[in-house]
Amino acid sequence: MLFFLLLVTSCAATPQNLQGKMFTFPEESNTANVRLTTSKQDFNAVTVCFRFLTDLSREFTFFSLSVPSFYNGVIFKNEVGSFQMCVNGKQAYFRGLDFKLNKCQSLCGTWEAASGLTQLWLNGQPSSRRLSSKSNISGPITITLGQEQDRHGGFFESRQSFVGMMTDVHMWDSVLSPCEIKS
Ligand SMILES: *[C@@H]1O[C@H](CO)[C@@H](O)[C@H](O)[C@H]1NC(C)=O
Repeated sequence: MLFFLLLVTSCAATPQNLQGKMFTFPEESNTANVRLTTSKQDFNAVTVCFRFLTDLSREFTFFSLSVPSFYNGVIFKNEVGSFQMCVNGKQAYFRGLDFKLNKCQSLCGTWEAASGLTQLWLNGQPSSRRLSSKSNISGPITITLGQEQDRHGGFFESRQSFVGMMTDVHMWDSVLSPCEIKS
């Protein structure tokens, strides 16, 4: 597992494991976000998992990883009726997942460059696999929770912001197995 350096406003940042750490986004905003940094800047596989609760019925973005060549380096997003995962600007859509309002749910997304395949797991239930990028994600990397970076490192829009709670955010530089994801 990669250890994130968590930067919250101007507080002195120290490396932290985000297990059990809850982030609350209490209102729609184009500023509130959590910024994560990682020591690794070149990825050929990624798994991101977290738990969340929201009552938003519009589109919103959970997780946005940006690199200079693709501001949509890795995006996890809910659109109305589907989830989207995007790697290096190549979007994959997942429909028919059992998303529920105002219920604590777990979401994991996996991707690897070798096959280009992405997959989502909502509450331990797998989506079909979809094709995304077959190229490495190459930094410098900036990661935000709760906002979508429409420019490398910033430019947020309220209408894409997350409102609710997120916890247990983890990122790995490999594709976790189904057993690992379900545990
Ligand atoms: C892709 O990323 C992996 C893991 O960081 C690295 O070992 C490999 O050299 C990278 N490949 C290219 C073509 O950059």
